[in-house]
Formats: sequence, structure tokens, C-alpha cells
Amino acid sequence: MRTQVGIIGAGPAGLLLSRLLQLQGIDTVVLENRSRGYVEARIRAGILEQHTVDTLRAAGVGARLDREGMQHGGIHLQYPGTRHTFDFPELCGRTVWIYGQSEVVKDLIAAQLEDGPPLLFEVSDVRPVDVDTDHPRIHFTDAEGNAQVLECDAVAGTDGFHGVSRPLVTAGTGGRVWERTYPYAWLGILADVAPSTDELIYAWHPDGFAMHSMRSPSVSRLYLQVRPDEEIEDWPDDRIWEALATRMALPGWTLETGPVTEKSVLPMRSFVSTPMRYGRLFLAGDAAHIVPPTGAKGLNLAVADVTLLATALVRLLAEQRTDLVDSYSDRALARVWRCTHFSWWMTSMLHRSGDDFDAQLQLSQLRRVCSSEAAARELAENYTGLPLE
Ligand code: FAD
Ligand code: DHB
Repeated sequence: MRTQVGIIGAGPAGLLLSRLLQLQGIDTVVLENRSRGYVEARIRAGILEQHTVDTLRAAGVGARLDREGMQHGGIHLQYPGTRHTFDFPELCGRTVWIYGQSEVVKDLIAAQLEDGPPLLFEVSDVRPVDVDTDHPRIHFTDAEGNAQVLECDAVAGTDGFHGVSRPLVTAGTGGRVWERTYPYAWLGILADVAPSTDELIYAWHPDGFAMHSMRSPSVSRLYLQVRPDEEIEDWPDDRIWEALATRMALPGWTLETGPVTEKSVLPMRSFVSTPMRYGRLFLAGDAAHIVPPTGAKGLNLAVADVTLLATALVRLLAEQRTDLVDSYSDRALARVWRCTHFSWWMTSMLHRSGDDFDAQLQLSQLRRVCSSEAAARELAENYTGLPLE
């Protein structure tokens, strides 16, 4: 088999890269080790920045997003006694959209299977080789158990945090990793109940952080700060609803409850691996970096990476010019570090560490960001998404 860009991983990064390259006349093959059903059912992020929405629309996969996505002009930030609303259009002229990552992935897969390049599910033993030459190859076993070799001009490692690509880049470049783990995790639920709020609520509380998001007018998504070693069995639905209601309590406001349809504990970490390129192997999305979810940046960063990477690969493969691939890693990492800082900052401001001195600093920061227009604008600009470069 031969293609121009071999793409490892059919998450949002790999699928969107394939679509963007297809639209520029570049051939791709996407290799995914899970099944289509598994990939489409994975519940993850829910907030799309302006540039993400613009990119999906321009890629011709925005129709359902425009019909079913919910445009949001702000968030509520809460600490005991106060629920402050940020008006994003007023603060920075931008908005965000609620549209689940699983829906973005379904739309991209549907488009690719309809008129796009090959997308192979349930492959195994994926192994990129010779990535430091101009003729990299990807060895893999297809779903029928046949050994295959995909010859490429470039390889995109969009295979997430546990993929095979990042270790090759680190080993080949003597690269470096920066990491921060947090002493807490999120317990997330999906529930069949209308959201009890117009905008998302991010709440600081002495018991720990809580958040109210949504997926549709009839489906709510909620999160609770828990210990990283928390057993999900210790959190029956009643206990979850009680903790959510306590942590987001406000006089005159009621949290509506309903059947819980999904429940899981998510670890929190910040992680950046540099550089994002070794020879003709390019990393994008979670393969290169992880942010804690508080700033809603993970999916949006993956989209930003592949937007830069697509342009760079078109320049390389259509014009034989290496300038943009040579600068890809540095340009992507500038934005990665900004989002890493914002996600760390939101996380640090809103989660209880157990230290009462920290708590006073957090409350001081929350009062500041809810009372100063300059501080509020800084939050709004970062939350709605900074320019790509
Ligand atoms: P992924 O979505 O991880 O896609 C990588 C793909 O590669 C997967 O389909 C995987 O199966 C495949 N793959 C892996 N290894 C191989 C291999 N060897 N061969 C072939 N294929 C392979 N972000 C937010 O902003 N807000 C949230 O609320 C939020 N919640 C999250 C909850 C969870 C449980 C997780 C894990 C992440 C969450 N994130 C959230 C982060 C966000 O979902 C990710 O940043 C986003 O999925 C990154 O997309 P990606 O395409 O880079 O990686
Ligand atoms: C969602 C997740 C986030 O991490 C966030 O900051 C906002 C919304 C969500 O799943 O809807």
C-alpha cells in the first residue's frame, strides 16, 4: 500500500487532518486500532472554541454542528454566595459551542467513509519505521489478520497519549517531557435531564470543585472533584447528585436530577512532550500533550495542531518546500504552552488541595477575576480560544 500521509489514530486529530489534507488534494490512509463503534461511543470533551467551529465548517463537516450544537456566550464562575456570569461577546467578541467530541468524531468518520480516503479500523501491531528518511513506512496487521506495509511520504502520529508515535520521537530526538500530576480527579456523569442552567457552571466549594455542563436541551453532563484513587462503586447516583447539589448550591436555584447513563473517573495531568517532530514523523493532539480538562482545551488544541500541520504538509508535499514543516513543532508548542498554562491556572484556581492557605489564595483570585474587567477579559480570551499563531 502507498499513500502520501499515513495517519495513525482516528481520534479528532487524525480524522480532521485526513479531511483537511483530502481537501487540498493530498492522499492519506488512516489506521485505527479500535472499532468504529468504540471510537464513536467514547464520551469526552464538549466545548468547541470559535476556531474549532470555523475549521469544522470550512472542512465541510459543520452541518449537524450548526443544527444541533448550542452556541454559548459565557460561563458562570461560582464560589460560596456568588455566581458570576462572564459575557464573552462583550469581553472579547467571541463565543464557544457545546457539541460533544463523540459527535465531531461521528461527523468526520461519516464524511471520510462517504467520499474520503481509506480509514481502516481494528488494525493492530502498528509500527512506523524509517521515519528519519524521506520514505517512512508503517507496518501493521489489518482487521483480517494480514501483515501490511504502508509506504508514505510523511507519518502523522495522532494516536493519543498511549500511542506508539511519541516514544519514537522522544527516542529519535533525545526529546524531553514536562509533567504535572494533580492530587485529584474528576468523576463525570451523563444524565437524561434538562440542564438546570443556561450557561456552564464552574464552582469552587470547600468540599471540592463541581461543574455543570450539557450536551443537549435534554442531556446534562456534570463533574465532581474526587480523589485520584476513587472507586466508582463508592459513588452511587444518589451520592453524586447530593454532592453536586451541595457544591453548586445557591439560594433560589435547584439542581434537577435524572437517570445517570454514563459514569467514569478521569485522571488529571498536564504533560508536554517536545519536540513534536522527528524526521518525517509529526505528532499532533494528545500524542504530544495532555491538559487537565478544566479549561476545556484538549480537543481544541488537537484541532489547532492539525490545522497547522495540514498547511505544513501541503507545502511540503505539493510545493516541496520544507519551511513550514521545519517550524511546525515550535509554532504548535507556543500555543500548547499557552493552553497548558491556562488549563493549569483554571485547575489550580478551582480545585481544593486540602490546604487552607491555598483556599484563601483561590478565593482571592476568584473575587479578582469576577470583579476586574481586565482579569475577566484574560479568562474570556483564553477560554474562547486564542488565535492560531
Ligand atoms: P484521541 O482522541 O485519544 O485519539 C487517538 C486515537 O488513536 C484513538 O482513536 C486511539 O484508539 C487511536 N490509537 C491509539 N494507539 C493506536 C495505535 N497504536 N494504532 C492505531 N491507533 C491508535 N478534553 C476537554 O477539553 N474536555 C473534556 O471534558 C475532556 N474529557 C476527557 C475525558 C477523557 C476520559 C479523556 C481521555 C480525555 C478528555 N479530554 C477532554 C481530552 C480530549 O478528549 C482529547 O484532548 C482529545 O481526544 C484529543 O484528540 P486526539 O485525536 O489527539 O486523541
Ligand atoms: C466539558 C468539559 C470540560 O472539561 C469543560 O471545561 C467544559 C465542558 C463537557 O464535557 O461538557
